[in-house]
Amino acid sequence: MCYFLEMVKTCVAATVTLLIGFSLLKAEWKPPQESISVQLIFPKEFGEPTLPTDNKITKERISLGEKLFHDTVLSIDGTVSCAACHVEEFAFSDDVDLSRGFEGRLGKRNSPPIFNLAWKDHFFWDGRARTVREQVLQPIQDHLEMAASLNQVLYRLNRQKSYREDFKKSYGPGEITSETLSLALENYLLSIVSGDSKFDRSLEKKIKLGPLEDEGRRLFFTSHEKEGAGCSTCHSGAHFSDFAFRNNGLRPAPDLKDLGRYGVTGKEKDKFLFSTPSLRNVAITSPYMHDGRFENLTEVIEHYNTNAHQTPTLDPALKKQGLQLKAKEKKALIAFLKTLTDPQFIEAAK
Ligand code: HEC
Ligand code: HEC
Repeated sequence: MCYFLEMVKTCVAATVTLLIGFSLLKAEWKPPQESISVQLIFPKEFGEPTLPTDNKITKERISLGEKLFHDTVLSIDGTVSCAACHVEEFAFSDDVDLSRGFEGRLGKRNSPPIFNLAWKDHFFWDGRARTVREQVLQPIQDHLEMAASLNQVLYRLNRQKSYREDFKKSYGPGEITSETLSLALENYLLSIVSGDSKFDRSLEKKIKLGPLEDEGRRLFFTSHEKEGAGCSTCHSGAHFSDFAFRNNGLRPAPDLKDLGRYGVTGKEKDKFLFSTPSLRNVAITSPYMHDGRFENLTEVIEHYNTNAHQTPTLDPALKKQGLQLKAKEKKALIAFLKTLTDPQFIEAAK
């Protein structure tokens, strides 16, 4: 009896040691010296991003994440990849109002573009994910998107020799887990940076904006009180977003019943609030808004130009009666928005 108990104790102790040893091994594992760490290149106006300290950006990890991003193995029946809804030539958004996932199932929201995520601290239109690694596992399991189970995906990845080798190079020995899968995707997504638009070049005095673009710039950055369009109250700073949740006066679409941020917090004050999107590359990310209701920038400007839908949470930064801009001013704003396209980024992403 005693002997048996001793054995159990020894066995438990051995297992615990093994487990601790293993987790230490994992925690301490660092990418080998020869792995190439990657420095993000961005305009100084962006400020320093907050990068995760436990997922240093390296060349190997980026290419592993990129491979996964394009691989339909992450979906239930091997038909949908992340890239199906996040297409490079549209700055990683897509060109339909609501994206279609597994079996052509219609999603509930517009696919947002992907870039400069390293400067954001919440993800999705309603901000329900706080980190990229948390975000990336959601589409894999979303029944309208990739509809897979993590176990199923991990089983498939672990069976592929090339993935096993890539993960080993990037995250050390052992099984591919949901953690390492999310880290690889996170690494790639954080490496996607866009900051070299015509507008950025004009700030660096490399080129000058044309007169119409320049008038649009003035309107964009000038408040209502000073006869401007007041866009930069919300689409502010180098990212053209304060990344706050706001209600910009859209009439709620009756069929979607999307309450925005309210769905996450349950607070009355968050009804119909959505994360203010960056306007970088906006000329190539149509259709617009969380449900893709506007086909083009003319429709967007028309929205801000006419009556905003009156709800208690309507943002006070909007003019209730609309901007009432003249035709030339609307054209100028659109011309300015088009200067936010980064051709190098789109070319490099292709
Ligand atoms: C079926 C289309 C579809 C697929 C497949 C898809 N996404 Fe998305 N993605 C979307 C939509 C739609 C949203 C916005 C959803 C929301 O806000 O609720 C989104 C949001 C995101 C965001 C948030 C961006 C931000 O700034 O808030 C990231 C990052 C992202 N997806 C990455 C991925 C990755 C990684 C994969 C693959 C594992 C993937 N997506 C697969 C449609 C898709
Ligand atoms: C009160 C804050 C606020 C102001 C002021 C504002 N916006 Fe917005 N904008 C938002 C929010 C929030 C969204 C996303 C709304 C949604 O989808 O529900 C948005 C969405 C957009 C989009 C769609 C982007 C995309 O990727 O779908 C464009 C384009 C845009 N705004 C341009 C402008 C312009 C131009 C002005 C000035 C005339 C302006 N905005 C003023 C908050 C604001």
